Amino acid sequence: MSLGPVAVTIAVVFILGGLAYLVNSGRGARPGREVPPNLAPYLTDEDLENSRLNKTLVTALFSSAFLAIALPVYFLTESGRQADFTEMFEEEAVHIGEEIYMVQTPDNPEGFGCITCHGAEGVGGGATYVDPRTGASVTWEAPALNDVLYRYTEEEVRYWLVWGRPGSPMPAWGVEAGGPLNDQQLDFVTEYIRSIQLPQEEVLAQVDTRVQAELANLAAATASIDLAIEQQEGQLAALISAPERFAAAEQLIKDLTQVLALADQGLDTDLDGLSDDTELQINRISELAFANVGTDATDATAGAADRLILRLDRNDPFSTIDSLGEPVPDLEAATNLLDELSSQVAALGPLAANNETIVASAEAALANLRDAQEAERYAVDFPALADSAFGGDLEAAQRAYGLYSAYCARCHTAGYSAGPVSQLEPGSGALGPSLRDGRSIVQFPDFEDHYEFIVNGSENGQAYGVNGIGRGWMPGFGAVLSEADIRLIVEYERSLR
Ligand code: HEC
Ligand code: HEC
Repeated sequence: MSLGPVAVTIAVVFILGGLAYLVNSGRGARPGREVPPNLAPYLTDEDLENSRLNKTLVTALFSSAFLAIALPVYFLTESGRQADFTEMFEEEAVHIGEEIYMVQTPDNPEGFGCITCHGAEGVGGGATYVDPRTGASVTWEAPALNDVLYRYTEEEVRYWLVWGRPGSPMPAWGVEAGGPLNDQQLDFVTEYIRSIQLPQEEVLAQVDTRVQAELANLAAATASIDLAIEQQEGQLAALISAPERFAAAEQLIKDLTQVLALADQGLDTDLDGLSDDTELQINRISELAFANVGTDATDATAGAADRLILRLDRNDPFSTIDSLGEPVPDLEAATNLLDELSSQVAALGPLAANNETIVASAEAALANLRDAQEAERYAVDFPALADSAFGGDLEAAQRAYGLYSAYCARCHTAGYSAGPVSQLEPGSGALGPSLRDGRSIVQFPDFEDHYEFIVNGSENGQAYGVNGIGRGWMPGFGAVLSEADIRLIVEYERSLR
């Protein structure tokens, strides 16, 4: 039992006891009525200062002493109780925030799926996204959130939550920006983000891995563009043939329906409900479907080729094996073929109807890819970089590029998060300003000012450099990167022409 109620109980008992005592003593000692009290001589001092007075005074002293001790003790434990309560409330907030972070399910109706892009516990991830600049469908990297409070203040994080990142897959979540989350929900999710922040040693320990990953990506850039071109060519071919395949599928549905209507006419050797002749005709239709409808090159028809080919055997009522290895009755296999053709019609219909527009945008995307392949905007001439900015130190040049790519490029190189296919030259500018043509030297004539800016980041409404006005959008990297690494990045930025 806590102290509060005990103290109150004791105080009430004391007061009641006192009152009872007064009433009682008054009753017993009523003087005689003969002489009016104002005329009778009053008690002498000797009579008054008796042991009863002493007892009363001692009792008063003890009660005051009790209150003098009990109240401060109560006061002290009360603040602890409040802290416990706050802690409980924070735990609850983290818990609700985590639910918001997770995917929506029947068990978690308040899930908004941050995890699908930012990964479990905020380790980072990606999102499929149509890049507005190139029109290409890409996987856009989503940053880690388990270190975001080392880069941004909570207020700055709140800004991104409310407004999102235009030009990236990050949606606006705040109600004032038309999003679904109210202020309290944003508090909860912020509380969750705070709870998943890594210890700083771990954040610093990630640097080398991230630098290596960037250098590996660069080494694989050419191959990844070649692969993207190959895939895009396949898609384009599939789109161009969509109207023909659509027409073929429609025709074959008609033919197959007709054949099935007469399926029980004629000799049926394996007694499976399909006459021998029907089985032959179905096989022929399936061959035509395989040749004229299916292609594995588009999502809409992926894997379709397998489902389109049938080889019914007139001596075997189960001539087909399904994907689980189970034999399928021939009649059911024929109906499956009909279903498959219908879903092809549904998938190919829209592609056939808007074919010109769709083909044109796929061609444009392919042209972009070929352009990227040719321009090699991602390419870095490390020996030249080493000579011009790092006194010939090749390793320093590579590390500087890797650091810039891991920590800065997503905001300062257009399309960087979409991979080498979409990216423009390093420092071309995106959410953050362009750093090419020696712009950072113009903004920060003094190296140390440039360095300090990267350490602290920008603040909303505060001027920086020669003519910069901060919006609080540029993170500070002082708690994420070592001084030596930040100096390498600054050298690199100052070398961008
Ligand atoms: C569809 C994918 C997607 C979803 C869903 C998503 N984000 Fe993001 N988020 C991103 C991307 C991508 C970025 C970085 C954008 C860029 O490249 O500038 C980002 C940026 C952020 C940032 C800024 C971090 C930084 O270092 O720049 C925060 C904070 C954030 N998201 C939190 C959230 C929270 C909380 C949720 C859920 C309520 C959420 N995001 C849902 C894709 C997503
Ligand atoms: C989340 C996006 C983001 C990231 C990541 C980022 N920046 Fe910035 N940066 C900005 C924005 C936005 C500005 C403009 C200031 C503002 O709006 O607050 C800026 C400004 C700058 C400027 C001043 C440029 C000028 O001409 O005014 C420099 C230099 C700079 N950033 C360097 C870096 C470096 C180095 C890194 C990596 C260590 C980095 N930035 C990472 C967004 C970013």
